[in-house]
Amino acid sequence: MAHDAAARPLTPSEQADELEERMMHELNEKIATKSVLFGMGDGKVEMEGGAALQAKNPGKYFLMGADPRLPEMPEKPQLIDFFRQRFASTNHLLQSAALARKAGHNEKVVLACLLHDIGVVSFIRCDHGYWGAQLIEPYVDEEISWAIRVHQALRFFPDESVGYPYPELYRKFFGPDYEPEPYIVEEYKRARNHKHYMTARLICVNDVYSFDPNAKVDLDDFVDLIGRNFKQPKEGLGFDNTPASHMWRTLMWPTRFL
Ligand SMILES: [Fe+2]
Ligand SMILES: [Fe+2]
Repeated sequence: MAHDAAARPLTPSEQADELEERMMHELNEKIATKSVLFGMGDGKVEMEGGAALQAKNPGKYFLMGADPRLPEMPEKPQLIDFFRQRFASTNHLLQSAALARKAGHNEKVVLACLLHDIGVVSFIRCDHGYWGAQLIEPYVDEEISWAIRVHQALRFFPDESVGYPYPELYRKFFGPDYEPEPYIVEEYKRARNHKHYMTARLICVNDVYSFDPNAKVDLDDFVDLIGRNFKQPKEGLGFDNTPASHMWRTLMWPTRFL
């Protein structure tokens, strides 16, 4: 733990945090907990022990399942349920997939575009390609998960053969002097000669941010494609005992105590 908050008076922002936390807890019968990672987003490396947290919420137990504040998930959730109930934004994904489909690319490329940023929209930005690939690996052709993994690195490197420049947006976001870290450069070099290079590259080509705001995109347009190319487990994502199951469960129950 980074420091002992009890040893000194609370700052106004800590008081506000505490009030927010109290209100949050009162909304529930159970105590929902924030994991360490959630606090790091506010620049804090800290956690509260179970006993202390429970002492602040007398008579209550910790949440060990669904958080009632979050959209309800079905008992056997499928990819579509995560799209609808757990992905904070799907427009970018739908637009990318629609663009790839319009360009006549095959279903693997379209699905790769549809899923390429699920790491970002559901979980975490850092290394989103790797997280996204890991989530779907057991359920798709390895061409799709491989492409999603490396699109993160490829995005930083132009490929004139397909008319892909270094993104202007990255200059705006990261500054003119930003250079990808060595692990990204290495990933790019490995990917460049890989048999599925072009699938990953096509994610980049269709990974556009300047959308036509009037373009109509709908998840329903991709339900059949998902059905054909994503092996939905009959037990539901999270309950199918794959190396990715725990990740889907975490998205389902992000505030469980354990
Ligand atoms: Fe991405
Ligand atoms: Fe993207």
